[in-house]
Amino acid sequence: MATIISQCSLNVLRQSAEKLIQGNLVAFPTETVYGIGADAMNKDAVARMYQVKNRPTSHPVIVHIAELNDVDYWAKDVPEYAINLMRDFWPGPMTLLLKRREVAGDFLTGAQEIVGLRIPANSLALGLLNEFKAVGGKGIAAPSANRYGAVSPTTAEAVSQELSEYLLPDDQILDGGPCLVGVESTIIDCSSDNPMILRPGSVSAEMIEESTGIILSEAGEKKIRTSGSDKQHYAPKAKVIIDGQSQSGEGLIAMSDVATPEGVIRLAEPKSIEEYARALYAALRQGDSQNLESIRIIPPNGQGLAVAIRDRINRAAAI
Ligand code: TXA
Ligand code: MG
Repeated sequence: MATIISQCSLNVLRQSAEKLIQGNLVAFPTETVYGIGADAMNKDAVARMYQVKNRPTSHPVIVHIAELNDVDYWAKDVPEYAINLMRDFWPGPMTLLLKRREVAGDFLTGAQEIVGLRIPANSLALGLLNEFKAVGGKGIAAPSANRYGAVSPTTAEAVSQELSEYLLPDDQILDGGPCLVGVESTIIDCSSDNPMILRPGSVSAEMIEESTGIILSEAGEKKIRTSGSDKQHYAPKAKVIIDGQSQSGEGLIAMSDVATPEGVIRLAEPKSIEEYARALYAALRQGDSQNLESIRIIPPNGQGLAVAIRDRINRAAAI
């Protein structure tokens, strides 16, 4: 059982930073989804975070940092195009995989020679990262604050539902309201000559090409392990069905111009792609809390963020 804190003043964030340095876990909001944070220099704290998530230890975790100057502590041989991406999209929903320095322990990288870094665009997360720095911290290791394979949480209540029973009284959940983006960050491998998207997010392929001046090639055989690339991931308990005709008793997630047939339980009817991303995970959770057997999803069309939404829908359906 962790403490949920909803008035996160600077004083509170200072205390949370102390908690982290002492080896406790602190869940916090980012603009994408909530993360469950541990001191990235503390092997035992990171190990407990993996236990709380029930995540295989071979899966690497993103190190969240406060500012561009912190990159050099964790990564080396940073290519020019990665610096362009950082300048254009950080703080923001983008994770860069870079060649690691030795300080990035095997327990963070899954023993791979790359480290994942991100500066989140959320004032509470940035406040925590800055306070953590002030007490000597170097970075906060934070995966999404869900049990392994489950849907990422986009509210503090969802974090609590996922992890509360595994957390200890000295751990904390910081409540910063619902996440603005709603799907996880774009992951870009920057460990070779050209960038490669490993997980689509709201920083789109078009934006990356524009920022770097490099045309992206189709992803080849992936040698890098990213846990989100497991076949079934981000899945609710309900069976997810894509497209087709909704049946009575089913949940339905679709854009607002799709009507709700009689007997169908409407879980979300977003009016824009951005709203779709924000609503998706909460709608899947709602379907589960209503014990629905199946949820039908009509994916959004288009490029950019819609690509990321379709990616998560496909994973939820395990196709
Ligand atoms: O938006 C996000 O990225 C959220 C917020 C909390 O920042 N975090 C998140 O973390 O989604 P997680 O662990 O659920 O997903 C991060 C993905 C995983 O698939 C992980 O394997 C991959 O990033 N990753 C992290 N570090 C890596 C590394 N060194 N090498 C390869 N993949 C890495
Ligand atoms: Mg995750």
